Amino acid sequence: MKPLEAELRRELGELAAGGALKRFREIASPQGPEVRFADGSEAICLCSNDYLGLAADPAVVEAAGRGLREHGAGTASVRFICGLFTPHLELERDLAGFLGAERALSYVSCWNANQALLDTLAGDRTWILSDELNHASIIDGIRLARPAGKAVYAHADPGALEAELGRVPPGHRCLVVTDGVFSMEGDLAPLPEIVELTEEHSATLIVDDSHGLGVLGPTGRGTAEHFGLTDRVDIVTGTLGKALGGAAGGFVAGDAALCELLEQRSRAQLFSNGLPPSVACGAREALRILRDDPGRLERLHANVARFRDGVAATGLRPLDGESAIVPIVVGETRDAIAMSDALLEQGVFAIGFGYPVVPEGTARVRVQLSAALSDAQIDRAVAAFAAVGESRGLLVAPDQPGSTAT
Ligand SMILES: Cc1ncc(COP(=O)(O)O)c(C=O)c1O
Repeated sequence: MKPLEAELRRELGELAAGGALKRFREIASPQGPEVRFADGSEAICLCSNDYLGLAADPAVVEAAGRGLREHGAGTASVRFICGLFTPHLELERDLAGFLGAERALSYVSCWNANQALLDTLAGDRTWILSDELNHASIIDGIRLARPAGKAVYAHADPGALEAELGRVPPGHRCLVVTDGVFSMEGDLAPLPEIVELTEEHSATLIVDDSHGLGVLGPTGRGTAEHFGLTDRVDIVTGTLGKALGGAAGGFVAGDAALCELLEQRSRAQLFSNGLPPSVACGAREALRILRDDPGRLERLHANVARFRDGVAATGLRPLDGESAIVPIVVGETRDAIAMSDALLEQGVFAIGFGYPVVPEGTARVRVQLSAALSDAQIDRAVAAFAAVGESRGLLVAPDQPGSTAT
């Protein structure tokens, strides 16, 4: 064995010994409320981000297929060298219109969009302030951007943000960046307070709304719409890989000048191919369905309420929240993994997350609801949670404070 391979095998062995080795389930069916694994077993899926059930929607699949047939696999180059296809512009126009922004610019992922945005905006007189539970793409994006100054403020704490805003040297550009919905907690950024503070300090507010788009707000426009603040968030980033079709892709939406500069300068635009046109067409169709069929959003929220009420009645205490993410904290990483395994034996696919993804001692099983789930599927899932919760001693009496809440 070569030296590098031996080192990598050792590292993998350490992960396995610590119970932290991830397993990857092979799915043979499309994504959906119930999936079929390669071994033929089936499970109710409570861990995809397919919030609106559009990943395998016939209209989305047809639109993606049309994009492929009409435009082929892709541009085979980057935007500034070999141009872009009509579906890119149509998608970007629709995204901007949906979010009430002047323009939107697509990337192959929201990971890329966040990194491109932060790197392009950070000069040697830029400060970036970031919520401590922001997504990894923001954390890495800030590292890559190397701003003049940066600070991580306590999670969803306007007081902590205010203190950091007060430390930004005068005359510096200040970017405040937060997830709209936090992926591990399922809670929302306190946007009303954050908007007030950023306006007061002339800072620019960036909201990554990957888990809020298609989920929150009366028309699914996201966390800002939920709080009635759509015209007061400066820049929105988001993914097309969750509610908006589930394939891949991300975007930045904001002023035209911002998008023009990103198009000119951001390295992910200059040195990397754009979205495959099939993906752009599929995402655009998903957006159209979200706009034209409010029933999906209503169904999603009804499903979240049914699941929350159901597990609460069994004695489980998920973290509170208004999003489609319902985390049930169980303690140690091994407990979360064991609970996830036990749920799968009962035909429910929900993943356990432990350290370092979440702080030590707060490992959890994270449930994500979808509009595609039927009442019967939700009730079966609740029954599985009740059985597994009981066998693992996690149930509390209805009038007791939740032992699983943090
Ligand atoms: C808040 C947030 N931002 C960005 C991303 C990355 O999205 P993408 O898969 O499009 O790179 C995710 C995905 O997990 C996310 O949850």
